[in-house]
Amino acid sequence: MPKDPVRAHVIGMGEVGRRLAEALERAGVDVVPVTRHDGWDGARTDPSSIRILCMREQDLPAALEMLDGVPPQRVVAVQNGWIRPLLESWPGCGRGLIWFMSKGGFFNELRPSIVTGPSGAWLAGALTRGGLHVTFAEDPAQFAKLEADKMGFNCVVGLPLAIHGLTLGRYLDERPDEARAVFTEAIEICSRALGVDPEPDAWTRFVRTIEPIRWVATSKAKALDYRNGAVVRLARSLGLAAPANESLLIAAGWSGRS
Ligand SMILES: NC(=O)c1ccc[n+]([C@@H]2O[C@H](COP(=O)([O-])OP(=O)(O)OC[C@H]3O[C@@H](n4cnc5c(N)ncnc54)[C@H](OP(=O)(O)O)[C@@H]3O)[C@@H](O)[C@H]2O)c1
Repeated sequence: MPKDPVRAHVIGMGEVGRRLAEALERAGVDVVPVTRHDGWDGARTDPSSIRILCMREQDLPAALEMLDGVPPQRVVAVQNGWIRPLLESWPGCGRGLIWFMSKGGFFNELRPSIVTGPSGAWLAGALTRGGLHVTFAEDPAQFAKLEADKMGFNCVVGLPLAIHGLTLGRYLDERPDEARAVFTEAIEICSRALGVDPEPDAWTRFVRTIEPIRWVATSKAKALDYRNGAVVRLARSLGLAAPANESLLIAAGWSGRS
C-alpha cells in the first residue's frame, strides 16, 4: 500500500479532468493540471503524487507511454470504456468509473462515481470532501461488476443515438427492445469476460439513472473500439455472439478502428 499522495497531477483537463481537479482543490489537495504541453515533468517524476488520467480512451496509450517508469500504484485511469487491454502492463493501476455527466455548463451526478486501487480510499475521501459523490470499491470483483454495468451505459449512450438520430429519451421510448438488447448484451458479455454475475436489476436502474440526461444526442459515435466494438470482440473471444451491438456497428460502417 503506497503512502497517501500529497499531490494530484490531473492529466487531461477536459470535462472530467476539470471537475475532478476542482473537487480535489476544494478538498485542499495540491493539484497540478497537466495538459498536452504543460505539467509533464512533475507528472513523470514526483514521488509523492497520484496521476489521474482523464483523457479519452484513444489518447490513453500515448499518456501511459509518457508515464513509463511511474509505479502503477500511483496512477488512476478514469476512462469510460473497455480499457483493460491498455492497462495490461500496468498491474495495480487504479481505476475510476465516472458517473457524473459534464458538458459545458451542464453537470449532473447520475450515481456515485466509483474508484478502486491502492490509493482508491484516499481518492474517494478527497473527492467526497470536495463535494462529489464517490465510493471506494475495495474488492476487485465488486469493481468488475460495476464496470460491466457501466459498459451497458456506454453501449447505449452513444452509437445507437448516432445511428437513429434520436435523443436518448426518444431512443428508449421508440426503440425500447433494441435499447434493452444492446444494454443487456453488453453487460452479459463483459460480466462473462470478467467472471462476475451481471446485476439482476441493471436495466431498471439504468432507465431511472438516465432520466436527467434524456436530452443527450450525438451525431457521431466515438470510441467504438472501447465500447460496442469491444463488446463484439469480447463476445467472439468467448465463442459468443453480440448481434444487437454488431448490427449497429455494421450500420455505422465500423471497420474495427474508431
Ligand atoms: N464528459 C463526461 O461527462 C464524462 C462522464 C463520464 C466519463 N467520461 C469519460 O472520461 C474520459 C474523458 O472524457 P472528457 O469528456 O473529459 O473528454 P474531453 O473533454 O475531450 O477531455 C479530454 C482532455 O484530455 C486532453 N488530453 C488528451 N491527451 C492528452 C495528453 N496526452 N496529455 C494531456 N492531456 C491530454 C484533451 O486535450 P485536447 O483538447 O488537446 O485533445 C482534453 O483536454 C472519456 O473516456 C469519457 O468517456 C466523460
